[in-house]
Amino acid sequence: MIQIFNLRKTFGDYPALCGLTMQIGDGELFGFVGPNGAGKTTTMKIIAGLLRADSGDVFIGGRRLAGNVRRFKEEIGYVPDFFGVYDNLKVQEYMEFYASLYGMSGREARRRSGELLEMLGMTQWRDELVDSMSRGMKQKLCIARALVNDPRLLVLDEPFSGMEPRYRMQMQELLQELCAEGKTILISSHNLRELSELCTNIGIIDRGRLLMQGNVREILRQQTISNPYILHYVRFPEAALQLLKAHEKVKNIAKQENSLSFPFEGTREEAAELLTGLISAGAEISSFVREEGSLEKLFLDVTAT
Ligand SMILES: Nc1ncnc2c1ncn2[C@@H]1O[C@H](COP(=O)(O)OP(=O)(O)O)[C@@H](O)[C@H]1O
Ligand SMILES: [Mg+2]
Repeated sequence: MIQIFNLRKTFGDYPALCGLTMQIGDGELFGFVGPNGAGKTTTMKIIAGLLRADSGDVFIGGRRLAGNVRRFKEEIGYVPDFFGVYDNLKVQEYMEFYASLYGMSGREARRRSGELLEMLGMTQWRDELVDSMSRGMKQKLCIARALVNDPRLLVLDEPFSGMEPRYRMQMQELLQELCAEGKTILISSHNLRELSELCTNIGIIDRGRLLMQGNVREILRQQTISNPYILHYVRFPEAALQLLKAHEKVKNIAKQENSLSFPFEGTREEAAELLTGLISAGAEISSFVREEGSLEKLFLDVTAT
């Protein structure tokens, strides 16, 4: 759905994007994660056609973005990280205003606005003034607004920041539903935890470069494999230790009091066999586990340099 190649953008002398390359597939719920100042907003504004890159290419649905922005507006729903205020506009009016910008007639705009407010559980707020609402409510309204023209691609810049947990959970469910219906969603956050359970894919950006990207489950699987096994014992005789040392897939055994840890490149079946062998050699083992991979750890690892 989105292909980005070698994207560069400087503000004055400051390089906000330094050759960003990233791919987002059709139907992905893609989490764009990085610390503040990493370049997320800049990237998303370029995708939404609000900012021009200095160089590099962006393709959306296979078509090049440059000079072509108007056409793409029909396909993209964009929720900025910061939104303007609309004095004296009520929720329903605000929605209808946006619907009319997309060329809907008064009746159609009313129908679509009503439908979206219903979907976001905001129907009872329709006559509230936008300015009087909480930040979380305004964010929900912004998401409703971005859906007004039923875009194929949703670009949401930190939509959960400052949002009450209750609304956040509602929004996460909604995004997953939209994704299941076939929309592609790009969502940014400086908080990986917010996205790790929600997203199918993740890209980590820092200082204007993509450090890594991939499928969340695949990343976790690889992370898990690279974690050591940790074995706690009550008794671990020399014979068991010799067996462990001799195993071709066991490396660098580290000993602590009543526990051992070691990288193990084998499968779960091989781990089970090893455990049986150790017990037969007289070891009394109280636990034997490989730490699960975690995106937090990965994030710390890749952004540590
Ligand atoms: N309009 C601007 N003028 C000058 N510097 C900017 C502007 N927009 C962003 N920057 C700088 O570019 C860098 C990337 O910003 P941004 O894309 O907003 O990061 P993020 O959204 O990941 O926090 C930051 O250091 C920011 O200060
Ligand atoms: Mg930002």
